[in-house]
Amino acid sequence: MAGRYKSDLKWSDVTPKTDWLNRRQIMAGAGALGLGAIAGPALAAFDPVPSAFSTDEEPNSFEDITSYNNFYEFGTGKEDPKRNAGALVSEPWSVEIGGLVDKPGNYDFDDLLAGQTLEERIYRFRCVEAWSSVVPWVGFELKDLLDRVGVQPGAKYVAFETAVQPQAMVGVQRGVFDFPYLEGLRMDEAMHPLTILAVGVYDEPMPNQKGAPIRLVVPWKYGFKSIKSIVRITLTEEQPVASWNRAQPREYGFYSNVNPERDHPRWSQATERRIGQGLFARRIPTLMFNGYGDEVASMYAGMDLINEFF
Ligand code: MTE
Repeated sequence: MAGRYKSDLKWSDVTPKTDWLNRRQIMAGAGALGLGAIAGPALAAFDPVPSAFSTDEEPNSFEDITSYNNFYEFGTGKEDPKRNAGALVSEPWSVEIGGLVDKPGNYDFDDLLAGQTLEERIYRFRCVEAWSSVVPWVGFELKDLLDRVGVQPGAKYVAFETAVQPQAMVGVQRGVFDFPYLEGLRMDEAMHPLTILAVGVYDEPMPNQKGAPIRLVVPWKYGFKSIKSIVRITLTEEQPVASWNRAQPREYGFYSNVNPERDHPRWSQATERRIGQGLFARRIPTLMFNGYGDEVASMYAGMDLINEFF
């Protein structure tokens, strides 16, 4: 698709992912020498700008974050998405934006990106199942898009919906879950600068198994809030349905902020296992709001995050 990516040649075609950080240094150096077009961006799909919101923790490798996934549309096993998501049709893609907005419509993927500065956001990502990762997302703030389409005064929530492609999705064929996968955020959460729509990882277009071509990332919430392969965004007055909350309301709340003090009914949330370090690696403590409390805690002041708004 013209103008969408810088080149068809991906960096992964020519170098192992572990070299990424080195590559960035090379690119920085090449840029200084005026060699950028040769050594740098020509090899990458996106050329995102860095963000002050990025953690300096070591990102997981591309291999780690694309071979251990949850994407029930492609099966319930951790390796199923990588195995099966090749069938996802992610081009052309459009997102239907509606509800309480000034400019509802069906926005083509390229429209969504037009004029948008893409940022690299290196975020911690904590799944409710107590594994975690560090991911160098490429994306932009959801707020930018919502501002563009015009949020009407009555809007209090944002609802999200994943594509259903029965032909391509073995999990849909087998009926392993009540699809389409649905999620939602409160308006202030949706407008928070940490909340992004991600279109890539490691400067490359989003791999299918991670939610191509566009997904939500809300780093202070359990991973299931970060809905993949979005086709619909609807601004509502009422709290929208969220799939896991609907499926098991006693286990999964609508808010689902990472909270080491509120155990899942069937397991502790106090610690987590970072993927890619082997099953016997030392577990690390889980942080309130996944470590983003300084930025987000005030949104929940006075709310009972253990019993009521978990
Ligand atoms: N989105 C859709 N459409 N379907 C899913 O099954 N799984 C969720 C979330 N988004 C899921 C989804 C869960 S449980 C997690 S932990 C994260 O995606 C996993 O994201 P990752 O595979 O990129 O690590």
